[in-house]
Amino acid sequence: MDQSSFKGFYKKSIDERLDILQAATGLSDEEITILKNTGGLTPDQADRMIENVVGAMPVTMGIATNFVINGTDKLVPMAIEEPSVVAAASNAARMSKSAGGFRTRTTDPIMIGQIQLTGMDDPEAAKAAIEENKASLLEMGNAKDPMLVKLGGGARDIEVRIIDTIKGKMVISHLLVNCLDAMGANAVNTMAEAIAPEIEKLTGGKVYLRILSNLAIYRLAFAEATWTKEVLGGENIVDGVIEAYAFAEADPFRCATHNKGIMNGIDAVILATGNDFRAIEAGAHAYASWKHGGYKPLTSYEKNENGDLVGRIEIPMAVGLIGGATAVHPTAKIAVKILDIKSASELAQVVAAVGLAQNFAAMRALATEGIQRGHMGLHARNIAVMAGADGDMIDKVVSVLVAEKNVRIDRAKEVLEELNK
Ligand code: MEV
Repeated sequence: MDQSSFKGFYKKSIDERLDILQAATGLSDEEITILKNTGGLTPDQADRMIENVVGAMPVTMGIATNFVINGTDKLVPMAIEEPSVVAAASNAARMSKSAGGFRTRTTDPIMIGQIQLTGMDDPEAAKAAIEENKASLLEMGNAKDPMLVKLGGGARDIEVRIIDTIKGKMVISHLLVNCLDAMGANAVNTMAEAIAPEIEKLTGGKVYLRILSNLAIYRLAFAEATWTKEVLGGENIVDGVIEAYAFAEADPFRCATHNKGIMNGIDAVILATGNDFRAIEAGAHAYASWKHGGYKPLTSYEKNENGDLVGRIEIPMAVGLIGGATAVHPTAKIAVKILDIKSASELAQVVAAVGLAQNFAAMRALATEGIQRGHMGLHARNIAVMAGADGDMIDKVVSVLVAEKNVRIDRAKEVLEELNK
């Protein structure tokens, strides 16, 4: 395709970009109208969010109900395209209520900024030089963010490691920064860049990378809940969930899917609140490997003395309430209002609870009737709509497909045709 008409695309208005895009791709007027729907954003807001904006990709947002977190009722907005997730989370939360719901907490919001030092003759001496000058380096970092410091955050410590690489030894400094209610990438990256020249001066080495690590081992969220054997429908179901957990604990193939199910819930809240779900994903899976020296589940389960199921989650949770899309995206702002939270720590706790609930729901379904029965109805709805059903006809087609256990588009079209006759 000749892309010459896209020259200076970034300087154009959204309407001008859409004209260029339509001419280049042959999109219909209807399709252009769909792109113009920028969800909760005004076109101006959309145009400031990223570059070369032509539209938005609205994701459905649902409300998970029944969550009780540290004794407080919470409604949880979840933005996700996958059916069943919101229903499963709400159901898991409902089942946890008789034992008090979710108990949650976080560590301090400490993020790590990495500074990569190379080319030293004596890595040990370089490490020592950095450690000896910690106080002045921290001061230098904090000078870059007086507001964060004033509010009680800021650079707290520097940890220095020597690592072996294919290019020889490197001295990696970890600048630990309390980011308070910010996700912290900006603050941490600015500080890391600010102290890097001083690290070079102190050591005679050369700094390359100065960037936040998403493996946020010091910024953790924890949640725990109990599902009684009565609510679960018997101790055999408690055992089934523990068998499922043992499978994930022993097998990375299963563990990837186990953790994916956790992230179904987590990413949905992260996205609804305008947070960075890639950062959370990266941190979660890296932590799942780092913590135990091999890829493991982010949740764990055991049976308590009553024979009830106790589930726990421990996960890095680098979320913010100030800055980024959370502060500007109107839908994200509404999501935060619905959550009724005032701090990033509170948000992290809700997210952890939802991750645990989501995982429990999947484990319970998988260990009993299987996942397909619950999925089938929702999947059948999508198939019925794809086959052309609307209004009352959707439910009629769905009931036939589900009864026949044959949720396929060709069958849906046939059923629709028969019903229309
Ligand atoms: C599907 O999105 C998520 C599950 O596969 C998670 C799991 O298997 O634990 C159901």
